[in-house]
Amino acid sequence: MAIVLAAGRGERFNSNVPKQLRKINGKEIVRISVERILKLNPRFIILTTLSDYLEKTQKLFEDVDSVKVIEGGKTRAESVSKALELIKETDEIVLIHDSARPFFPIENTKECIKAAEEFGSATLAVPVKDTIAVSNDHEIVSFPDRNKLWAIQTPQCFKAHLIKKAHELLKRENFTPTDDASLVLRYNLSEVRIVVGEHHNIKVTYPADLAFAKVIMEELINE
Ligand code: CTP
Ligand code: MG
Repeated sequence: MAIVLAAGRGERFNSNVPKQLRKINGKEIVRISVERILKLNPRFIILTTLSDYLEKTQKLFEDVDSVKVIEGGKTRAESVSKALELIKETDEIVLIHDSARPFFPIENTKECIKAAEEFGSATLAVPVKDTIAVSNDHEIVSFPDRNKLWAIQTPQCFKAHLIKKAHELLKRENFTPTDDASLVLRYNLSEVRIVVGEHHNIKVTYPADLAFAKVIMEELINE
């Protein structure tokens, strides 16, 4: 089963229509993402959306029986948590994906699912390209060794009971994570395996990413 997140306001993208509903070559980003998820044959997909776009999103997926559209929460983590409420505490794998990444690689994602079956939790990631610095305001404090750094992507995959536990524990504190694998580590619930992904699995975040996305769709995606 899968959770696809599309309840963000896209503040950095800053357009009237939320970024996940913007189209690339005639198709909404969220629709491209869900169609790719369907290639993995999940039992069902829970799709979180903004309350003001609930009907529009339901309409967009009325032809896909396995998609259940629900209202998301104020933060990404709250959206995940609401979706997890509909999932039982089993060993089954839950795949969590940001709809803003429409070009995630299918084969690597299958590996991610397998890694989660074996180790509990796994995420797609790519080695970082840039030199990364840690700063205090505008003063650099350190340069972590780039060879140990990964840019974390989605899909991320977890045994259902594990990720449900992580979100239960999160409710007891005031912390806003940007993904789910970090929670598993934070609460020491399982190993988190890296499955090497693809650099073209970009997250549409800023307006320029929409232009990159169009090129990726035209030149790199042939599945
Ligand atoms: N998301 C969600 N519910 C929220 C916030 C985010 O379902 N309350 C989803 C977004 O729709 C997106 C994914 O989580 O597909 C990753 O979030 P991000 O890229 O940060 O999107 P936004 O939060 O919408 O963008 P921004 O942070 O710029 O406002
Ligand atoms: Mg966000």
